Amino acid sequence: MIGNDVQVAGEYLTSGEVVGIPTETVYGLAGNALNEAAIVKIFSVKNRPYFDPLIVHVASTQEIEKYCHPLPEQAYWLAHSFLPGPLTLLLPKKKLIPDLVTAGLPNVAIRVPAHPMLKVLLEELDFPLAAPSANPFGYISPTTAQHVEAQLGNKIPYILDGGPCAIGLESTIIGWEAEQPVVYRKGGLPVEKIEAVIGKVEVRQHSSSQPAAPGQLKSHYAPAAPLKLGNLQEMITCYKGKRIGLLSLCGVYPDIPQILQVKLSMTCDLNEAARNFFSAMRYLDGLDLEVILAEWMPEEGLGRAINDRLRRAAAL
Ligand code: TXA
Ligand code: MG
Repeated sequence: MIGNDVQVAGEYLTSGEVVGIPTETVYGLAGNALNEAAIVKIFSVKNRPYFDPLIVHVASTQEIEKYCHPLPEQAYWLAHSFLPGPLTLLLPKKKLIPDLVTAGLPNVAIRVPAHPMLKVLLEELDFPLAAPSANPFGYISPTTAQHVEAQLGNKIPYILDGGPCAIGLESTIIGWEAEQPVVYRKGGLPVEKIEAVIGKVEVRQHSSSQPAAPGQLKSHYAPAAPLKLGNLQEMITCYKGKRIGLLSLCGVYPDIPQILQVKLSMTCDLNEAARNFFSAMRYLDGLDLEVILAEWMPEEGLGRAINDRLRRAAAL
């Protein structure tokens, strides 16, 4: 059931249930991070392999220290600059966090979400929330309560509706190796903004052989129809005669029916494009197409994170 009652969501969570929650990035499938039975439910509802660890959500930056050992100095600067917001820190966990949450890894991924309704919920609870994105494993992430309902509605008792996600892409994940910062997943906080605070960071490419590296399975966000990336005009010619759908930043292609093309932004704005991206993928996925043709975004700001999702939707 979809509703907007924070109290109801809180009661389900306190009783060990899992519920859909809004965040500023994407919707999450949340459970009590300190309750192993609730964590098991998250994995089973999402059909997620146990080797893929979960992000823990807390109400404030101060709370991070309850669950993690002393932070590297750079983590403080980042927290000060960007939290609450779309940034997840990978930090050494304290014993309080069950090994199930981190898939046995020594670090926990932790974040302070900026969504006002979720903030109220987290402040009411006396435990943090573990929450992966609320989609079946490997499928497109949800950015509205209706997206969650469509796929997981019959498996969970409640979805807290906080409206469409303001950012629309998952959080950026950063950690430290030998005190050097590493971005493991490009996301809602552009790498340029991080570098403006702590200097150059390494951005790790995805790895399918090493799923312990965060969020970086090669095939992910996958629609049912194959997705091809390149120059749209050239691909339209190449796939002539097939049932094709188009995903562009802001172009219009007169030869293709309007309902088969999605333009991510009226004004070629990458923030707007990010906000619309996962909805657009779902829309195209619902059209029974033979192939989805998409173009690369400019490699700047949120364009880099959208390109990462496109690359993995195409399993490149
Ligand atoms: O914006 C977000 O981060 C959303 C919202 C709901 O907060 N959550 C999200 O969770 O995207 P999920 O589970 O779909 O993606 C989190 C990624 C996973 O792919 C996982 O591999 C990685 O973070 N991760 C989580 N904990 C980790 C850990 N302890 N060590 C390494 N990677 C971790
Ligand atoms: Mg996910």
